Amino acid sequence: MASLCTLLGLCCLAAPLVLALPPFKSQPEQVHISYPAAPYSMVITWTTFNETESVVEYNVWGGKLFDLMAKGTSTIFEDGGSEKRKLYVHRVTLSGLRPGSAYVYHCGSEDGWSDIFYFTALNETTSWSPRFAVFGDMGNENPQSLSRLQKETQVGTYDAILHIGDFAYDMDEDNGRIGDEFMSQIQSIAAYVPYMTCPGNHESAYNFSNYRNRFSMPGDTESLWYSWNIGPAHIVSFSTEVYFFLDYGVDLIFKQYEWLKRDLEEANKPENRKTRPWIITMGHRPMYCSNDDKDDCTQFESYIRIGRNDTSPPAPGLEKLFFLNGVDLELWAHEHTYERLWPIYGYKVFNGSADEPYVNPKAPVHIITGSAGCREKHDGFIPEPRAWSALRSTDYGYTRMQVLNHTHLYLEQVSDDQYGKVIDSIWLVKEKHGAAAWL
Ligand SMILES: [Fe+2]
Repeated sequence: MASLCTLLGLCCLAAPLVLALPPFKSQPEQVHISYPAAPYSMVITWTTFNETESVVEYNVWGGKLFDLMAKGTSTIFEDGGSEKRKLYVHRVTLSGLRPGSAYVYHCGSEDGWSDIFYFTALNETTSWSPRFAVFGDMGNENPQSLSRLQKETQVGTYDAILHIGDFAYDMDEDNGRIGDEFMSQIQSIAAYVPYMTCPGNHESAYNFSNYRNRFSMPGDTESLWYSWNIGPAHIVSFSTEVYFFLDYGVDLIFKQYEWLKRDLEEANKPENRKTRPWIITMGHRPMYCSNDDKDDCTQFESYIRIGRNDTSPPAPGLEKLFFLNGVDLELWAHEHTYERLWPIYGYKVFNGSADEPYVNPKAPVHIITGSAGCREKHDGFIPEPRAWSALRSTDYGYTRMQVLNHTHLYLEQVSDDQYGKVIDSIWLVKEKHGAAAWL
């Protein structure tokens, strides 16, 4: 009897140790796809919490399921929180895809496969009309626009999604679990169309490590800045945050600036601008806004616009660079509102004409679309719109964009508060692109 009690006592002592073991998680989750800026390709990214192989099985829609197979690699991402949680982030590049064809895939390994997803390989010509959902500032809590975006994405409304910074609020919180949950939430859109991103201020923890490790954007900058082509558009994504988080390296401002300069010069070579005339930029914090926060561009002159003179050497801003390179459209977020600006440069409005301001405008057009929904809710506006502010809305929502052809680009704003009502729309029409268009 005594020996049984002893035995039971040992069991009781041993039990918590057994219970403390984390679950074995080789099941893929947080599946999302991105375009690697290499024609006929797509990158599939997902997470496991135990080490597994990185395999995607796929085929064209209607073909024999999973007849094709591609292997990739995984990297261990250790979150910077106290638990030092480890994630295995898997990346597989599918190449040789048939442009415009639908593909069915699952990802994982013999230790567990994901659900089945599908995507359409991008049309690689410059004569089609890609459609985008565009927004920033969507969180794990209060992601107001997400269900509408899920439905629209799954019925094929979009060819790509642009998320202009600020994810999850914040991905690093609860030792990265908020990031995990957010990436699982967006799987319902991001596993179906390329989910293209740029970093925002909410990604800053541990030197943007959650952002850099979880996404798979083109190039070799860990998704911080890159460009890619789609249809008649060249899209440039960059980090506004290099201007604010100087502890992570002032040199990043200069590295990015030099990269932007080279990229824009390349995109402006006559043979390139002729085939992809639209140059569209996306960065998180806007150069202009008329919000009433304490820390934004209403209160302070924008570092993004004019640079910083308190660094050594002084850091250049981007407004002039973008203007001189004939950037057509600049997409921003950060403010939890929607604001459309008249064509603007140096605080001056340069409408195409009084009747048709967006037909052959003489300066870039700015759109601020950061109202997808997050725990910080809405931002407000200062009472009087600035002379350069064309339309403002505090509704939750997102932007739809279609690059119709070489001369016409369409933008509309969807209000989630008003059950999907389109509350603003413009046609941006340009018979000429490049700096010559401003003359
Ligand atoms: Fe932000």
